[in-house]
Parts: sequence; C-alpha cells; structure tokens
Amino acid sequence: MRLDKLLGSQTDLSRKEARQVIKDGLVQVGDSVIRDPGFSVDPEQETVTVAGTPLAYKEYLYLMLNKPEGCISATEDHTQKTVLELVPPELYRDGLFPAGRLDADTTGFVLLTDDGAFAHDILSPKHHVQKTYIATLAEPVTEECLEKVRGGIELKDGTVCLPADVRALSEREAELKLVEGKYHQVKRMFAAAGNRVVALRRTAIGDVPLDPSLAPGECRELRKEELSVLQNRQK
Ligand code: URA
Repeated sequence: MRLDKLLGSQTDLSRKEARQVIKDGLVQVGDSVIRDPGFSVDPEQETVTVAGTPLAYKEYLYLMLNKPEGCISATEDHTQKTVLELVPPELYRDGLFPAGRLDADTTGFVLLTDDGAFAHDILSPKHHVQKTYIATLAEPVTEECLEKVRGGIELKDGTVCLPADVRALSEREAELKLVEGKYHQVKRMFAAAGNRVVALRRTAIGDVPLDPSLAPGECRELRKEELSVLQNRQK
C-alpha cells in the first residue's frame, strides 16, 4: 500500500496532509525516514511511525457510539449534526459510516465502521442479529398490544413485520428485539398496535450491550470479544 494512502486511512490526516507530513520527514518505515508519499509499505509486516508514534494498523475500525438526541445517522449533512461529527480525531478515519440508522430523536447504540461487508451482515434480517430497543410509550402497555407486536404486526401502510420479541418493563416501557430495520419501525409497530412511542433507545446489537459508561455523544472502539460475538453471530 502507498504510504500516503496508509496514513490517510489509518489516521485523521487527509491524504493531502499525509503527503505533507511524509515530505516533512516525520514518517519512518522501520528505522528509515521515508519522504516519498508513494513509497510502498506492508503495514502488516513493517512498523510505520508518525512523529515518533507507531501506527497501530487496523484494516477496519469498529466503534460503539452512544448516540444523543438531535443528531442524524448520516455521514454528511449541511444543516444537522451527524453521528460522525461526534467521533474524536484520535478515533476518526475516512470511510467510517453508521451501520444502520436511528432516527434523530432516538438515542443509544450506533455502530460506526468502515467495513461494508460486516455492516451489511449485521443489518440483513437473514443473519438474525437482533437489535434491542427500549420504547417509552404514551399509553400503558397492554398484553393485547404486546401480542399484536409479537405476532408480526401489519403496519398502517400494509407492510408486514417479522414477529418480534417484546416484553413490558414497566407500565409505560417495553423492550423490543428486532432483526429487521424498516423505516421508523418501532414507532410504526406501536402505532399500529394502538399506542405511541414518546422516547426510543437502542440498548444492544446482537449480544453486545451498549456500554453504560459511555455518556451520550461518547464512543469507543469495540473490544475484541464484542467484535467476535457479532462476527460469529452473523454466520
Ligand atoms: N425504529 C424506529 O422507529 N426508530 C428508530 O430510530 C429505530 C427503530
């Protein structure tokens, strides 16, 4: 891989900035300072150092974000804040995107990655990776409402949802596990069952719960065990 491409993909430097840093003599491959941005490097075999700090090469990055209210699950927007703007520079790299969308007013677990195949697999209903939500409802949760949601409810536009795993947590709170992610699905399911979602939070993806130590707006890398739980789940 070209040295400037490697730096552009593994750090928060743009490709242009990476070229400059290389030309300035700040980058070493092994023991040698390399000033050629096109220098070919094997990041799996060689140690690349930027301003004295070794680059921890990772082919792909996987971040767990605790999404706050009011930002959108997109990579770019001219008017609203996006989930990517919450990623601190030391964790940011080009190519990151949210694997699945939450509404602007939904909070909780968003997985950010640059691994397209992985994102596709955790989102595809075929792979049965459940997403867990806690919905706060306008009306008390009734057994009748839960039964409708459980049975694979038909939405008002005729779309039929797959059966969902749902239970009451308190008078106005329900936990719901879904393997599909239709537009506004949880809100539309409860609306079709005669209730209304007033707040929604995603608390887990597959068997990986949202880290309770992440404050709204904070993110961290997925731990190795968390990633392997999700990777094994998709198969
Ligand atoms: N279902 C919804 O209605 N909204 C979300 O953000 C996620 C699931």
